[in-house]
Amino acid sequence: MAFDFLTRAFSVGSYIGVDIGTTSIKAIELSRSNANPRLTNYGLLETVPVFERPNSVIQANSLRISEKEAGELLKLLVTRTHFSATNAIASIPSFASFTTMIEIPDMSQAETEKAMPFQIKQNIPLPLSEIAVDWVRVGQRDDANGFVKQQVLVIAIPNEIIARFKAAFKIAGLALRALEVETLSYSRALVGTDQTPTIILDIGARSSNISIVEKGFLKSNTQIDYGGDSITDAIANGLSVSYKRAEELKRRIGMLGGSGELELSTLEIPFVDVILNEVQRARQKAIDTLGAAPERVMVVGGGANLAGIETYAEQRLGIPVVPGNGLLYVDVPQELGMMVPELKTRFSIATGLAIKSLLS
Ligand SMILES: Nc1ncnc2c1ncn2[C@@H]1O[C@H](COP(=O)(O)OP(=O)(O)OP(=O)(O)O)[C@@H](O)[C@H]1O
Ligand SMILES: [Mg+2]
Repeated sequence: MAFDFLTRAFSVGSYIGVDIGTTSIKAIELSRSNANPRLTNYGLLETVPVFERPNSVIQANSLRISEKEAGELLKLLVTRTHFSATNAIASIPSFASFTTMIEIPDMSQAETEKAMPFQIKQNIPLPLSEIAVDWVRVGQRDDANGFVKQQVLVIAIPNEIIARFKAAFKIAGLALRALEVETLSYSRALVGTDQTPTIILDIGARSSNISIVEKGFLKSNTQIDYGGDSITDAIANGLSVSYKRAEELKRRIGMLGGSGELELSTLEIPFVDVILNEVQRARQKAIDTLGAAPERVMVVGGGANLAGIETYAEQRLGIPVVPGNGLLYVDVPQELGMMVPELKTRFSIATGLAIKSLLS
């Protein structure tokens, strides 16, 4: 299903942020304005409602996309949505990149730049000729011996993946200007410069990501192979109904089943618990290794729309659990109405990407 929305023409200073997930593509167009970037258009393409086949995936969980198929779907989305921008920026799933946090002695930016190539060689187990590497300083701390260390996040993306993305965007008639690891994108949209230690939980279709953000910087990330589709599978199997019917029930009732639908949450809870146990583990690890106790959980991704999940998660985790707001730093036209909750959660990666391109 794709939506048509505002087709007001902006040609300069507009970018499309594109998040190609395993079962859906989310794209959002933001335009430069005097204050916050302004949302001018968006589109969503889901494989399930489009093809009615639960197993058609856009992005295989195997470090590679089929550039032709992804390109054709993206083209469909772009054509239906009537984006006015042609410049795009896209996310790389965290499983398709290699990220690692290293600690090196605190030194000037110039000295750090000199030291990094050596550090990268030491810490990234891939040949430098086959990857594009980026790094960003994300904090500092005193180590056990009283020395000040700076923490640097190193991100490596295989050249082959970059080439595939470029080819897919070309098919869609878009110029791909940059790629970014998705966890950095949603951190920018959801937390920005807010200093509160925060857990971002992205419940996607096939997997979920748990990120720790502290003082506005991404500190760590874990991925697990459970997502919203695991819950749909459980309903389909448990009630012996089709996948499509199970998906409908999940979206309508979520975890809120009344007396006649108690069974639905009984089927859902084991899978929600697997995800929440991992959140609990990440939280404990943040306390132990970062010395930062996360004070809240923001839930994003399509799975954030599971009715009742925040209340349930809050009971389990004992800290506030809120739907993430990816539009925190964006001006939103009033006409948007009903779509706003989904844009805030499910589009947070796409939004973070578009914000980045307008900032640079
Ligand atoms: N209203 C809703 N209630 C419950 N679940 C929902 C709702 N809307 C979407 N979902 C679920 O969200 C999931 C898709 O989310 P999303 O678009 O974030 O995934 P993706 O980005 O394609 O996947 P991944 O991040 O794993 O690559 C699906 O499992 C879908 O069933
Ligand atoms: Mg996703």
